[in-house]
Amino acid sequence: MNTDINKLRELVRHHERKYYIDDQPEISDADFDALMRQLEELEKASPEDIPPDSPTQRVGGGVALGSRIPHRSPMLSLDNTFGRDELLDFGVRVRKLLEDEPVEYITELKIDGLGVSLLYENGVFVRGLTRGDGEFGENVSGNLRTIRAIPLRLTSTADNPVPPVLEVRGEVFIPKHLLGDINVQREAEGETPFANPRNAAAGSVRTLDSSVTASRPLDIFIYSLNYVEGLEFATHTEALEKLKSFGFKCNPHTELHNSLEDVIIYYNQWVEKREEIPYEVDGIVVKVNDISQQNELGSTAKSPRWATSYKFPAHQAITTIKQIEVQVGRTGVLTPVAILEPVKVAGATITHATLHNEQEIANKDIRIGDTIVLERAGDVIPKINDVLKEKRQGDEVAFQFPDLCPTCSTPVQRSETEVAVRCVNAGCSAQLKRRIAHFASRNALEIEGLGPATVNQLVDNELVHDVADLYTLKAEEVGKLERMGPGLTHNLLHQIEHSKDAPAAKVLVGLSIFHVGETVAELLIDYFLSIEGLSQADAEAIEAIPGIGPQIAESVSTFFAQNRPLIEKLKAAGLRCFTEEVVKTPKILEDTFFSGKTFVVTGSLTDMTRTEASTQIKARGGKVTSSVTGKTDYLIAGEGAGSKYDKAVELDVQILTAEAFFEHLREN
Ligand code: IVH
Repeated sequence: MNTDINKLRELVRHHERKYYIDDQPEISDADFDALMRQLEELEKASPEDIPPDSPTQRVGGGVALGSRIPHRSPMLSLDNTFGRDELLDFGVRVRKLLEDEPVEYITELKIDGLGVSLLYENGVFVRGLTRGDGEFGENVSGNLRTIRAIPLRLTSTADNPVPPVLEVRGEVFIPKHLLGDINVQREAEGETPFANPRNAAAGSVRTLDSSVTASRPLDIFIYSLNYVEGLEFATHTEALEKLKSFGFKCNPHTELHNSLEDVIIYYNQWVEKREEIPYEVDGIVVKVNDISQQNELGSTAKSPRWATSYKFPAHQAITTIKQIEVQVGRTGVLTPVAILEPVKVAGATITHATLHNEQEIANKDIRIGDTIVLERAGDVIPKINDVLKEKRQGDEVAFQFPDLCPTCSTPVQRSETEVAVRCVNAGCSAQLKRRIAHFASRNALEIEGLGPATVNQLVDNELVHDVADLYTLKAEEVGKLERMGPGLTHNLLHQIEHSKDAPAAKVLVGLSIFHVGETVAELLIDYFLSIEGLSQADAEAIEAIPGIGPQIAESVSTFFAQNRPLIEKLKAAGLRCFTEEVVKTPKILEDTFFSGKTFVVTGSLTDMTRTEASTQIKARGGKVTSSVTGKTDYLIAGEGAGSKYDKAVELDVQILTAEAFFEHLREN
């Protein structure tokens, strides 16, 4: 019986490997499922005998997410090289340190996913860590086990036995074309879609629920052997071959080169073909192949001297502007948007691009019918990089910025001090729709289920005339709207009711006052303690708060002077921040890493919004500002950090990675 079950396990492992690692299935999916079920049935007879590396033990096993574990050796990152000259400079440094010995380079694709370390003892997967801050990783073993391309048991034969201890490193990723499906599902569940496959991979591995990881089409490529007992290799190529023989999945696109000129040819070929690769690749990695040379070159605290990443240029595409439309924002600002001939950039079809404001159109001389270069760097919103004026045919039309609001036809207001052009009609339905959507958004009252389609209907059917009307909506009114069955109606009204508990700062954000985002709202509430208190203050009193300038003070006091009826309505609706007595609770904020220091947060922190990061810093006694200056103590730089990062480098401001920041949060 035992041998039967062991043979069956081996058979399932074999087919798992054929399907998920070698990409050469030998049997149909249905036959594979049948084998798996058979194994599950046999294991049911004595559950206590099921080994943790059985193919049935992918979901539910392992250690819970959260513990931090030191890496055996730091998980370094790679230096970035942009352009041919920088790559050749890398070669010069390498040759100099190696005293002009000949160097063989190996190139690999740089997969844009989540770096992980996998530990095997006697061929069995025992632990998986994220990169973390490079020194300590997060234990994600339970989640990684659900990834079918990660073997739970390695292939070991008499001729090729697995070593007792083996640590490999690789990149977990999600195929590009599957991101759309995941996002459709996330949106249906009211969650924010992932901006790119990298965030999707990171979010899926760093979740508390391993069944979520299991439901995502995650894959992995192993790119290095980090630690091994009892085996030695002369080259990186040899090490990769060995890893493949143990059953690891390594990327097939590696190549050897005797010169960096040769590497550049290889790179240029990939720049041409990058869209064809089914996973996100942001460049190539160039490594010195010889391990003794690698050891001789060594590493800096941050990255090895024997490798570099040679980044691809930002994704670009050429298209034309079919039309320019003007959208009305929640504070009445009119934003011009280019409607584009749809074009694919980095796998996403782009149909719109913001033109920011009237001034931008004039500065770049953007006309309807123009051919433009659209650029999308990483996950950022596409921008118009260039207008190809040489492509003009003569029939392009200069855009006339409207003098009337495109929605309510009220004359627009231009100001001497701002580039923004505004619709000043507080009753404008476009503004109202945006204000309600903002009121319901995550930064404000977090009313799930109140998406744009519902907001539009509520306004168009005149069921709400301001945000306070949400609180007097009746089930029979909501139920009559399109696509609102009894279940959705009940849920929406429940969520609206629940939002009454929102704290004052969130409600203040939700009011769409010019210049009042989360940071300012919190400052104001910290000082005045309640919206009611703030609404009684004049501009002078508001301006007295450190960090609040005259523009904000003016905007806030004008808002409350003009919107007293709205505040009374919200009070009457029973929002807790108006009805509850305010008790000031002084926080003990001394002696945290954050206290008394000034932070700027930039880029994407993957699993925390910047708003949340600011809240966490402030709760620990730190200050958050929006621009990097000589007074900034730390820049927290997430993925895609741009000009603020450069500024911080220039001003010698200390930079914390997202991981290091999370680390400090956990410690304080
Ligand atoms: S080698 C010492 N090879 O890129 C660092 N890294 O910025 C050795 N990555 O953290 C890394 N593809 O997660 C290497 N073929 C590849 C890679 C690769 C993606 C990631 C890795 C690393 C980051 C470096």
